[in-house]
Amino acid sequence: MSGLPGTSTLPRLLRAPSPGWTAHADVVVVGSGIAGLTTALRAREHGRVLVVTKDNLSAGSTRWAQGGIAAALGPGDTPEQHLTDTLVAGAGLCEEDAVRLLVNEGPHAVHELIELGTRFDTFSTGDLQLTREGGHHRDRVVHAGGDATGAEVQRALVAAVHNAPDIEVIEHALVLDLMPAADGAVTGVTLHVMGEGERDGVGSVRCRAVVLASGGMGQVYSSTTNPAVSTGDGIAMALRAGAVVRDVEFVQFHPTVLWLGAGSRGQQPLVSEAIRGEGAFLVDQQGERFMQGVHEMADLAPRDVVAKAIMRRMREHGSEHVWLDARGFGEERWRARFPTILAACREHGIDPVHELIPVAPACHYASGGVATDLDGRTTVPGLYACGEAACSGVHGANRLASNSLLEGLVFARRIAADLASDPPALRPPAAERRTPGLSAASTMPAVQRQMTDSAGVLRNQDGLERAAKTIADLVADSDEVPRTEAWEATNLATVAMVLLATARAREETRGSHWREDFPDPDDARWAGHLSAFLDESGRPQTTFAPLGEE
Ligand code: SIN
Repeated sequence: MSGLPGTSTLPRLLRAPSPGWTAHADVVVVGSGIAGLTTALRAREHGRVLVVTKDNLSAGSTRWAQGGIAAALGPGDTPEQHLTDTLVAGAGLCEEDAVRLLVNEGPHAVHELIELGTRFDTFSTGDLQLTREGGHHRDRVVHAGGDATGAEVQRALVAAVHNAPDIEVIEHALVLDLMPAADGAVTGVTLHVMGEGERDGVGSVRCRAVVLASGGMGQVYSSTTNPAVSTGDGIAMALRAGAVVRDVEFVQFHPTVLWLGAGSRGQQPLVSEAIRGEGAFLVDQQGERFMQGVHEMADLAPRDVVAKAIMRRMREHGSEHVWLDARGFGEERWRARFPTILAACREHGIDPVHELIPVAPACHYASGGVATDLDGRTTVPGLYACGEAACSGVHGANRLASNSLLEGLVFARRIAADLASDPPALRPPAAERRTPGLSAASTMPAVQRQMTDSAGVLRNQDGLERAAKTIADLVADSDEVPRTEAWEATNLATVAMVLLATARAREETRGSHWREDFPDPDDARWAGHLSAFLDESGRPQTTFAPLGEE
C-alpha cells in the first residue's frame, strides 16, 4: 500500500533563510492549550521552558470545548468501565496500553487541575457534577460554567502560567519549521514573531526538545468547530522533519454543529453532545426520532454512529440538516446548564427553549496525528507530540467524547516526566538546512473546498483521487514569498495530501472513516494502523501494520 504516485505536495526545497535572532531554552512547547500549558507547567521544574503560540495564549481549541473532561470519578464508575467505552468507540483501533494509562491516570490528573484552580461545576455538597455524552455508559464528564468547560480550564492554566515567571511565552508567533541536527534529531525551531521589540520577525530557538501541542487541523475543511488557528501546523512540520504520522484518515465529524446555511464557512458553533446526554434527541424533517433502532444507545451512540445516521437521513430526505429537540429543558435549565449554546442559538435567530435546533455534522477532531509512544516521543529524537497534534493510540478510529482534554492532561504529565528523567542532548544544528517551497495563501479556500467535497463524512476512491490531483496542481502552480500565511497554506496542503493518501489507502469503513465504495464495516484485514510519512520529494507514502505488529 503506497501513497499517491505522480502527485506531489512540496516538491520544491529552498535553502532556509538565516534567522535574524537566536534564543535558547531546554524545552520549546509549541501551542498553548491544555496539552501545551500542562507540559510547560510541569517541565519548568527541570529546565528553561519557552511556550510559543500562534495567537494569544487562549486562542486555541481548548477554550472552545463544551462537554467537559471524562474520568471515572462518579459513584460506581471505574477506570475499567471507562476503558471499555473508549475501546468500543475506537472501533478496534485503540492501543489498549495507552487507553489504560489514560483512564487510570485520568482521575488524579483532573484533581490536579482542580488544585491548580479550575472551578468545575459542583453540587451544594461540593461533589462534582457529572454528565454523560455519546458512547459513555456512565455519567463521568466533569464540566464548568455549564457548557464552558474549555474556557474555564484555559483560564486556570493561563493564570498558572502567568504565576510562573520562569516560563517564557512568545505570543503571535508562528513556528515555521523544526531545526534538524546532523543526525536527524530535532534541535530547535525557526519562528516568525509578529510583534515588536527585540524578538520580531524570523528567529530561531535552540533547545534539547520540542513538544508539539499545536492542536488539530480542522481548517482543512470549509466548515469546522475548530478555531482559525487549527491549520495542522504541528503535524505538517513533524512530517517535514521526517516524523511518522498515524491514523490521519480518522477525522471525527461532530454530529450536532449548528447549521447556519449552506454557504457557511470557517468556525461553526458546536451544540454539545451533553445536550443529548441530558435528554435532548434528534428528529428528521418529518419529526421522526431516527436514532432509535440504529443503535442500542440511540441518541447517545458513539459519535461516528450518530454522524453517519444523520448523513444517511439527510441523503434520504434531500435535506441539509436534521433537528435537535431540547425544548423539554425549559428556559431555566437552558440558562443554567447550557448558557453558551443558548447564546449561540439566539445570536443566530433560533430560540432553543421553544424551537428545534437545526444541526448537521461538521469537522471536529483529528483522532490521528504524529505517532507517539506512551511518553509522547515521536519517531524523531528530541521531538514530542501531545494532545490533538499527537496520535498516542487512545482514540483509535473514533475518539470517545470528552477524552481529548483528558489525553492532553495525562500525556503532558508523562512527557514532562520523561524530559526530567531522560533529557535529550543539546545537538548542534545541521550545517545545511532546506525549507519547503511555499504554497500561495490564496490556495487555502480551494484546498478546503476539495477536502469538504471529497474527504468529508463520505468518501470514495474517485473523489479522493480527484481531490489529490487538484490540490497537487494547485500547490505546484503556486509560488509564494515566505510569509506566515504562505506557511499556513503549505501546512494545510501538506496535511490534506497525507489525509487523502491514507483515506484512499484504507479500503474499508471503520469509525469515522466511511468509504461509500467499501461500505462493509470493520474489515478484519484492515484491523491495524496506517502510518504515513513524506518521502525525499515531499510525497506522502503510507504503510500498514496490523495491530500489535508495528
Ligand atoms: C461536545 O461537547 O459535544 C464535544 C465534546 C468532545 O468533543 O469531546
